[in-house]
Amino acid sequence: MNDAPVPHRRRPRYSGKNPRRFEQKYKEQAPALYPEEVQKILNSGKTPAGAHRPILVAEILQVLRPSPGDLVVDCTLGYGGHSREILPLLHPGGRLLGLDADPIELPRTEARLREAGFGPETFSAHRCNFAGIAAVLARESPRPADVILADLGVSSMQLDNPARGFSLKHNGPLDMRMNPNKGQSASVFLSQVGAEKFQEILEENADEPHALLLSKALAGKRCAGTRELVQLIQAALPNRPAEERELSVRRVFQALRIAVNEEFGALDTLLKHLPQCLGAGGRVAILSFHSGEDRRVKKAFEAGLQAGVYGEISLEIIKAGEEERRANPRSKSAKLRWARRSDC
Ligand SMILES: C[S@@+](CC[C@H](N)C(=O)[O-])C[C@H]1O[C@@H](n2cnc3c(N)ncnc32)[C@H](O)[C@@H]1O
Repeated sequence: MNDAPVPHRRRPRYSGKNPRRFEQKYKEQAPALYPEEVQKILNSGKTPAGAHRPILVAEILQVLRPSPGDLVVDCTLGYGGHSREILPLLHPGGRLLGLDADPIELPRTEARLREAGFGPETFSAHRCNFAGIAAVLARESPRPADVILADLGVSSMQLDNPARGFSLKHNGPLDMRMNPNKGQSASVFLSQVGAEKFQEILEENADEPHALLLSKALAGKRCAGTRELVQLIQAALPNRPAEERELSVRRVFQALRIAVNEEFGALDTLLKHLPQCLGAGGRVAILSFHSGEDRRVKKAFEAGLQAGVYGEISLEIIKAGEEERRANPRSKSAKLRWARRSDC
């Protein structure tokens, strides 16, 4: 037995009334210990640090209709927000497979869901890319899924933590990988990409209107931190209004993130494998956050309907209502589409 005293660790101090940096927000990151503080943050329309608010939950439950005994695949487990709502509806006999590429957040989410009472017979977590959904299903179940959900992009936990390299607000290493153990960081990617290729990436991944100018200024640059990249983007657009430059900063970050994580390739593979992963009458819902993703989902669902693979698809995009947009600004750009596998 080790009797050595546990060294006392000081809480991170911050000046002023409210913590500003992610690592100082220790109360928000421990909701079980500080429920009142966390509720105040939620009431003010913000997402507590280290958490993620699920989007369009009621609408997703309505189109997916998860029921007792169903086999569900949540392709993007994230904080487990959607899964937390779906799991109680599967009892008795149902099961949910939660997939996520992120090796840092996945064990935390698994622990939270276990703590909430979902044992291995009803919930299992799988660290993998959702492009591999067919292999996971083949390994885990003798039958296809009744329900599949994908909530694309990054979680608030990933976005808010400067150490992950997605943050526009606080400096951190320019990484942006959902799985930091795999592939190239955004910093390496940027230093090796050619200007022509990067222009394509900015246009295709983020509809960036200054793609030509920005690609010339940024491609091939060595840029270790997120702040340095923000400064390079701002400097490349010297005569533009501040709001326009701010939008370009957001779009460059988005385009880089999509490229580094090969997000469109993974989505295309998921869309291709969906029909074989769904049983007769099975339902799929996909939540996307920008036009590059939504175009792909729309095209795949329409092609599936024409081919008779899907019996029905959403005719309109489902969007967050005014109340949700106010309560959770990250829901503003969300677009939900669904499809139902045909019965034969
Ligand atoms: C928007 S969050 C999902 C949030 C979740 N629905 C919730 O309510 O907590 C997206 C998650 O998908 C994961 N992800 C994104 N692309 C992925 C991929 N190709 N394969 C597996 N996971 C992916 C990210 O790591 C992130 O955790």
